Amino acid sequence: MFVISLYNLKGGVGKTSSCVNFAYMAAKDGYRTLLWDLDPQGAASFYYNAEPKAKGSIKKIMEHTLSLEDAIMGTGYENLDIIPADISGRKMDILLDEQKSSKKYLKSLMKSIESEYDFVFIDCPPGFSLLADNIFNVSDVILMPVIPTTLSVRSYDLVKEYFTDKGVELDKLMCFFTMVDVRKNMHNDVMLELYKDKRFFEYYIPYTSGVEKMGLHNAPIEAFAPSSYAAICYRALWNEIKEGVLE
Ligand SMILES: Nc1ncnc2c1ncn2[C@@H]1O[C@H](COP(=O)(O)OP(=O)(O)OP(=O)(O)O)[C@@H](O)[C@H]1O
Ligand SMILES: [Mg+2]
Repeated sequence: MFVISLYNLKGGVGKTSSCVNFAYMAAKDGYRTLLWDLDPQGAASFYYNAEPKAKGSIKKIMEHTLSLEDAIMGTGYENLDIIPADISGRKMDILLDEQKSSKKYLKSLMKSIESEYDFVFIDCPPGFSLLADNIFNVSDVILMPVIPTTLSVRSYDLVKEYFTDKGVELDKLMCFFTMVDVRKNMHNDVMLELYKDKRFFEYYIPYTSGVEKMGLHNAPIEAFAPSSYAAICYRALWNEIKEGVLE
């Protein structure tokens, strides 16, 4: 089981759109895939039309009255399961704080599904938190979408600093550019600078209306517009990531 978390300190950078698309593509490639929506906003669940079977499911999982396996649902797509978000997840930090080894709790919880999946994708809320610490701990790769602007560079630097302070392996952090507009000098300049870091994948996701249309179709881009520019870009990037993480 290989855990990839879509994370950024910053909000609105394309974490959910990317998580939804990569999970779909991994499943389509034949990997047994699970998407765990750990953002109480539930946007990834919305794209898959998924609602939790029981109310307060995250709280119940944390309190051991619901097993992780029982929270898993099918998405209707082959090889792809989901644990939908639910609003009780907004108290995640309090729930985690009540656990022994509070920073490693998610990792111990996920042991029970280890042999069931090849890939687990986690859609994370933005920000630093105890949940984020758990996610950093359980992830093999922390995949960070970055819009090439100065503010994003700042949050990229803050994340690296946080990793160093908290002893998170910096090698786990891999990044790619999203919402790129190559007509903007700033985007080009920031990309040239950050590519030097060797932490960024070459392929990137341009700013394109195809991604926004996912909200109209409630589906990943490749499922409803496989020959669109957005789908082609996501596929190229996913192939590069797959090679990067599986090599
Ligand atoms: N490549 C893109 N081109 C155009 N619009 C995009 C692109 N990627 C994402 N968007 C749009 O930007 C908005 C934010 O994207 P998304 O929800 O994926 O970001 P997020 O990082 O998960 O946000 P949050 O921090 O709120 O969870 C959405 O409306 C989405 O449709
Ligand atoms: Mg999101």
